[in-house]
This record gives sequence, C-alpha cells and structure tokens, in this order.
Amino acid sequence: MTDPLLEIDDLHVHFHTEEGTVEALDGVSLTVERDEVVGVIGESGCGKSVTAFSTMGLLQSPPAEVVSGSIRYDGRELLDLSDDELDGIRGDDITMIYQDPMSSLNPVLTIGHQLTEPLLAHRDISKAAARQKAIEMLEACGLADAERLMDEYPDALSGGMRQRVVIAMALITEPKLLIADEPTTALDVTIQAQIMDLLRDLREEFEMSVLIISHDLAVISEIADRMAVMYAGNVVETCSMRELFEAPLHPYTRKLAESIPSLETSVQRLPTIEGTVPELIDPPTGCRFASRCPDYIGSECDEIDPQLAEPEGIRDHEVACHYYTDESDAEPPWQIQGVEDQ
Ligand SMILES: Nc1ncnc2c1ncn2[C@@H]1O[C@H](COP(=O)(O)OP(=O)(O)O)[C@@H](O)[C@H]1O
Ligand SMILES: [Mg+2]
Repeated sequence: MTDPLLEIDDLHVHFHTEEGTVEALDGVSLTVERDEVVGVIGESGCGKSVTAFSTMGLLQSPPAEVVSGSIRYDGRELLDLSDDELDGIRGDDITMIYQDPMSSLNPVLTIGHQLTEPLLAHRDISKAAARQKAIEMLEACGLADAERLMDEYPDALSGGMRQRVVIAMALITEPKLLIADEPTTALDVTIQAQIMDLLRDLREEFEMSVLIISHDLAVISEIADRMAVMYAGNVVETCSMRELFEAPLHPYTRKLAESIPSLETSVQRLPTIEGTVPELIDPPTGCRFASRCPDYIGSECDEIDPQLAEPEGIRDHEVACHYYTDESDAEPPWQIQGVEDQ
C-alpha cells in the first residue's frame, strides 16, 4: 500500500486568549488516502475548521500555537516547511473552499481576474491560456455563458453561482487534495444538493482526494467514502460511511447516526444530544464527552482520555471510548455489529 496522501497525527493546537488557553485540538489524527473522500462531522466548535486551517498552514500565530503533532502531505512534513515552500503547495496541490464563500471572492476584482490568478502564480502559462482554462473550469462547474461571466464582479452573481465560482477557483490548478469546509452551509437546500452533486462529479473527473467538513450528516453522506467524527477537539471515531450508519461504535456517533433514518431517506433532523460541547479553556480531563454521554461507565471516563484505536476483531474502524479499551471491563450496552463485505 502507498502512503496516505494526507496524514495528520496527534495534532495539538492551542489558542492563547485573554481568557486563557483554548485547547482546540487535543491530539487529532486522521488520514486521507489517494482518491478518497473523507468527511469530517461534528457539532459546531469541535475543531473541524481548526484542523483544516492547520493543514493549509493558515492558522494565525499568535493567538494559535501548534503545540505538537505532525501533518504529512504526500510524504512531506508540512509543519517543517518554510512559508515559501508552503506557498508552493497551498493554492496549487492543496486548495480549500472556505465556510463563507464571499470571503474567498474579492468584490473589486472580476471573476476572470480571480480565477486566473492562481494559475498565473503557480504555472508557467500565458494570460490567454489561463483565460481559456478559466472559461473551461467555469463551464465544468455548470456555469453557462462563461465568457461573459469572466468580466463580471462577484456582486452580479447569485449565491449558488458564487459558490460555483469559488469551486472553480479551488479546482483551477487541478489540486490533488481539496479541503471543503462547510461548502454549502450558506445556501438553500435545493442549491446545496446541486453543489454536492457537482463536487461529486468533479472529484471523479479530476481524480482528487477530498476532505469535506460539515456539521450536517445528511450533506456529507452524499459524497464521503469514509468518516471522521470529531468531538471537542478529538477525532472520536473513524470508519466507512456505511459503518457509520449501520455499525457506529462511539456513543456520540450513535447519537449522530440516529438523527438520520438511513442512507436512502436522507431526511434531515437535528441530532438530539442533550447538553453542549464543553468549554475548551480548561477542558474536562478524561473523555471530553463524558458529561453528556448516555452510556457513561464511571470514573475511567472522567479520569482517562480514551485513545483512538481499532477494537479487537474489528477492521478499518477506530474508536476512542472506554467500552473498547483495556482500562474498562464494561461491555457496551448495544450490540457490536460487523458490516458484511459487499
Ligand atoms: N482564533 C481563535 N481564538 C480562540 N479560540 C478559537 C479561535 N479559533 C477557533 N477557536 C476555538 O477552537 C475551537 C474549535 O473551533 P472550530 O475549529 O472553528 O470549530 P468547528 O469548525 O468544528 O465549528 C472552538 O472552541 C473555538 O472557539
Ligand atoms: Mg467550522
């Protein structure tokens, strides 16, 4: 097997604020294989965006501090690269669609200017060739009348069209890895579905790996092959999309999966998990989910931080919960099912 394209290992990120140190990422580990779509799911404030920004090398420091850990991309340690070296990768090999599409578009520059900019920065290409490529990319993103659009300003476009332009910008260099942080949150439901369809088609066409972030399982289940579930700065479970619905292990994942009836009927309901994500200034020791956990075991949950690991007898599925660690003899109150190979 070849190395993963992206391998984040035990990443700890803090923010130093006047109120204290926010322990935003508490040992995040996650991988994206070549040609794989990994979905990151979790409630607001769980560290999804901080994980994405860390990978892009875009955390502002201060207040952010990468305390420890590793982010390897295509075999290279990103945390060791100089700004210049990182600039060669970011915006070319790795690109990102941000949570707020308007923030990626400059209102005073034409669409054409903004689309060709990454190409002119990263490729030895003439202006005319860059323009032609930009027009093709707008068309690939489902935008009609691309020639005319090139001379428009972002204000002239609807929200859905802007998001298509933002996607075109992210794909113009044909990246190997696309990071999409809540790419459809600002859009209405019909447009959301169209954009997800578009992303799915484009990722096949361009053979990209994708790390897609959402707080909405219904959105992400349309596209992801594998899932990483985040809670309060930790990845608490990783598994295939199918297992997330059919054989979830972590109590938090089980709650999330219950909020959606099945893969086929993606009716959207809000997860009903009592309580809120804990403060990450002086966070609880032990399992950060303990205070909300419907299946809380006892002192080990409060005292020992469960590590992400593959439970015995289960393949390609990791979980961080004391039901599956040596520290506890407790048997899960639910049946552990394997998912049959297809
Ligand atoms: N610039 C910052 N200063 C202080 N705390 C921050 C900053 N950015 C993010 N955080 C904190 O880090 C945690 C994770 O945030 P984030 O990754 O944005 O969550 P998500 O994307 O999952 O909603 C939150 O507790 C958030 O308050
Ligand atoms: Mg976010």
